[in-house]
Amino acid sequence: MPTITFEGKDFSCTEGETILDCMTRQGVMLPSSCQSGACQTCMIRALKGNPPEESQQGLKDTLKAQGYFLACICRPTEDMTIGLSSVSPRFSARVLEKRLLNETVVRIRLQRPQDFSYRAGQFINLVRPEDELTRSYSLASLPDEDFLELHIKRVPDGQMSGWVFDRLAEGDDISFFGPAGDCFYIPGKADQPLLLVGTGTGLAPLYGIFRDVLKHEHRAEVHLFHASLAEAGLYLQDELRAFAAQHKHFHYVPCVLHGEVPEGGLQGNITELPLKVLGSLSGYRVFLCGDPPIVNALRQKCFLGGASMQDIHSDPFVFTPQSS
Ligand SMILES: Cc1cc2nc3c(=O)[nH]c(=O)nc-3n(C[C@H](O)[C@H](O)[C@H](O)COP(=O)(O)OP(=O)(O)OC[C@H]3O[C@@H](n4cnc5c(N)ncnc54)[C@H](O)[C@@H]3O)c2cc1C
Ligand code: FES
Repeated sequence: MPTITFEGKDFSCTEGETILDCMTRQGVMLPSSCQSGACQTCMIRALKGNPPEESQQGLKDTLKAQGYFLACICRPTEDMTIGLSSVSPRFSARVLEKRLLNETVVRIRLQRPQDFSYRAGQFINLVRPEDELTRSYSLASLPDEDFLELHIKRVPDGQMSGWVFDRLAEGDDISFFGPAGDCFYIPGKADQPLLLVGTGTGLAPLYGIFRDVLKHEHRAEVHLFHASLAEAGLYLQDELRAFAAQHKHFHYVPCVLHGEVPEGGLQGNITELPLKVLGSLSGYRVFLCGDPPIVNALRQKCFLGGASMQDIHSDPFVFTPQSS
């Protein structure tokens, strides 16, 4: 079995165990959040030995070349010496605004640190001050706005979301690191139609992306489907309708699975509605964000509906599995 050396001590991995699990089992708490290779919170560096290729998924080539990898998906195949990553500087930001967008979603606006830059649709990792608990949240703001906007849903018994709802207040300072993620709009191909689909707070990155798209004077049709189980789970409907009224090629479709159908909206399964409305997705660029099973199902449907895999960008909001 491979041995992992960290800060001069040796830790033995069991068959098929990830480095994150191996260290946790032996009392070393490395930073982590999603535990599935999405958020990059657990990025560490191989000082000796080679991390398996799959443990470097989604990292920039420059980081891969320096031996960085994700501990939560790294099942080592040889002995390795590892060191904590120092590539993600921490930023500190003041909470400028905290406002409920519906009963379970709060909008947080943070003062943007001057040296922090990002692409609309990327995410940051928020750190709770008292215990360094870390969770990822997508940026709904635009890079040239002087605040960072987050839409945070209260998850039942959720440690970070509960803390944000109940304890975090305007005027507090909070730290974060990032940005990360590659679900963003790259200007160009202005005649390529766009489909954006988000469930719940999956609207957050899309709220940044579609405004970025409109700013870049994308000429083709842009369709935004925002879905929830029922209308109470939707938010920012008035603002989105106002954008649609101002931009004739931007279409906003609020979707619910059951209950009253919002004005201009649809009822049905969100994994089926976009294709029903648009027919073929051949030639489309697609952005999918939110609930992981829905995002994964939509990826497949959009591909089968004609979109090319390389034109499908997604950000599933994978969450930390509950420990038993
Ligand atoms: C790339 C990325 C971007 C994200 N962006 C956003 C965002 O913009 N807005 C946002 O609200 N969230 C977002 N998330 C999810 C977020 O990071 C947290 O997972 C979420 O806020 C729950 O954290 P918590 O500490 O409150 O709950 P935890 O204490 O981690 O979990 C409490 C319990 O709830 C379960 N649980 C956690 N999340 C969910 C869920 N979504 N649905 C059902 N059960 C759940 C857990 O398994 C556990 O049993 C994103 C995640 C990723 C990976
Ligand atoms: S990528 Fe490892 S904890 Fe999120």
